[in-house]
Amino acid sequence: MCGIIGYTGGKAAAKIIYEGLKRLEYRGYDSAGISVLCDSEIRTVKRLGRVSALGGFLGKMHGSTGIGHTRWATHGKPSDENAHPHNSGMFSIVHNGIIENYSQLKSEYLLGESFLSDTDSEVIVKLLNKFYDGDLPSSLARVCGLLRGSYALAVICAQFDGIAVAKRGSPVIIGYGENENFVASDLPALAGMCKNVAVLNDGDIALLTADGVAIFDENLQGVIREILPNPAKPADLELSGCPHYMLKEIREVPAAIERTCQAYAYVENSVKKALAGVDRVIITGCGTAYNSGLAAKRYIESFARIPAEAEIAGEFRYKNPVVTSRTAVIAVSQSGETADTVEAAELALSLGAKVIAVTNSPYSRLTRCADVVVPVEAGCEICVAATKSYSGQITALYMIARTLAGFSAQSSADRIAPFPALCAQTAEREDIDGLADMCARSYGTYFLGRDTDYAVAQEGSLKLKEVSYVPSEGYPAGELKHGTLALIDIRTVSVFIITRPDLAEKCSNAVEQVLSRKGKAAVITNVTEVAERFKDRAYVIEIPPCDEWLSPLVSSEVLQLLAYKTALLLDRDPDKPRNLAKSVTVE
Ligand code: G6P
Repeated sequence: MCGIIGYTGGKAAAKIIYEGLKRLEYRGYDSAGISVLCDSEIRTVKRLGRVSALGGFLGKMHGSTGIGHTRWATHGKPSDENAHPHNSGMFSIVHNGIIENYSQLKSEYLLGESFLSDTDSEVIVKLLNKFYDGDLPSSLARVCGLLRGSYALAVICAQFDGIAVAKRGSPVIIGYGENENFVASDLPALAGMCKNVAVLNDGDIALLTADGVAIFDENLQGVIREILPNPAKPADLELSGCPHYMLKEIREVPAAIERTCQAYAYVENSVKKALAGVDRVIITGCGTAYNSGLAAKRYIESFARIPAEAEIAGEFRYKNPVVTSRTAVIAVSQSGETADTVEAAELALSLGAKVIAVTNSPYSRLTRCADVVVPVEAGCEICVAATKSYSGQITALYMIARTLAGFSAQSSADRIAPFPALCAQTAEREDIDGLADMCARSYGTYFLGRDTDYAVAQEGSLKLKEVSYVPSEGYPAGELKHGTLALIDIRTVSVFIITRPDLAEKCSNAVEQVLSRKGKAAVITNVTEVAERFKDRAYVIEIPPCDEWLSPLVSSEVLQLLAYKTALLLDRDPDKPRNLAKSVTVE
């Protein structure tokens, strides 16, 4: 949510920043801007719309130090004026986060100042201009001391050939190059640009020049932050012949499952240790990550017979949760930076719980607070809608649940082994187009299933609404008759996921109830009798027979493709759905 990048070195900064912004666009894409320092003067260009709107200005932006921003609006509508950078006097800043006390700061310190934007961020640059005493780190620290909320800030100043950076809450990575240094919100922005990175702590201030990086803590004492290899590779950012990242990433589901499964062997013992004596498990996350928790709840309860709950992180953290030292909280997050999920994990830790992070981002905030990190090895995920990371989460959570039940990682890996091949076949299916056409024409699409199929239904529904904007809901199949049936008519499509032979009969009754009300129905199933029963009355997608607990890996991939194809039919950009950002680092 909002991407920032900065460069200082010997090359043309604007071009490097522009390239980085394009890579960060998944964090926000309503407007973008760049400031460069040229002969002790700051030049800024910012525009409503995608990063590409800046392309035509690069030739005029000379200078080898600069900052850039791609925005996901919080305060102030998307517009040229509200786009970052924001300038005041000799300063230009980009900001990711939310300043909660910005109106109070305006009335306390900035009365009489005229503001050019409606943003909370402009207050920061005005304060910096007001309090600047000739020393950039200490002036910035003074301003940061007044801010309430979250921020990742990159600042350039006409009097200093470098970048000042400050961080609290929002993510910031420093990139170390040769005679050049970088700052960015996220690792992919720096893929191929620098080999080493450091992650700043909350309260840190950094000063970057072409020659080096100095980092200070909130008391302005010099500190050293660990220098780590940058795992992001330029190849991660290529489309590899696919028209969209969403399709590319669906095709990478098999690799995500395989690598996550292999990586688990290295953390198995730590997970065992963390879960020893646990009598309750809470799985928490947002969006897709929460939906993977719905499946995990079922795994844990069925395999280990230990009570488990899936809780939306934004609810968990505000409900005064019942957590003891015998509770394990599994925090699931692709980015590891989602504010609600990280705060939920921190709350659980403070209440004495053991916290296990399941994340695709090795240096994220979540990894730094958890007791144990279970890696999701999906690789960079660029499309805003999660696909391969969901499959990786399901794989990791399945393995954790089996560890809790006393099974070895190897025995779990043996069960998972057929799935990369099954998912590779699924990615090539061509029989989803007809259903996509039905969904694209529908007035509303409902996803229904029982038990793990219900968990998949929720994710299928989220995927469809995220990328195609078709109104959609997921329901437990048994709930159909308790309300949803009122919505069913000839304009609606109900998609049933039926992979549990023991529940097939009951779910089939629900399909009949939809068909009797003239609703259109689709059935995704590996139960032969179900496929036979509905083949002439519903759109049937047969998936191969497989382990019933792991069938979500296949059925969810069918639904990912369904969402992708529906989006294309409706002429939506599946990689950048309107109003959404991939990494939601504010509340
Ligand atoms: C946003 C994204 C979703 C994602 C959710 C959680 O809402 O648009 O696709 O599932 O955040 O993200 P996380 O990084 O915590 O998994």
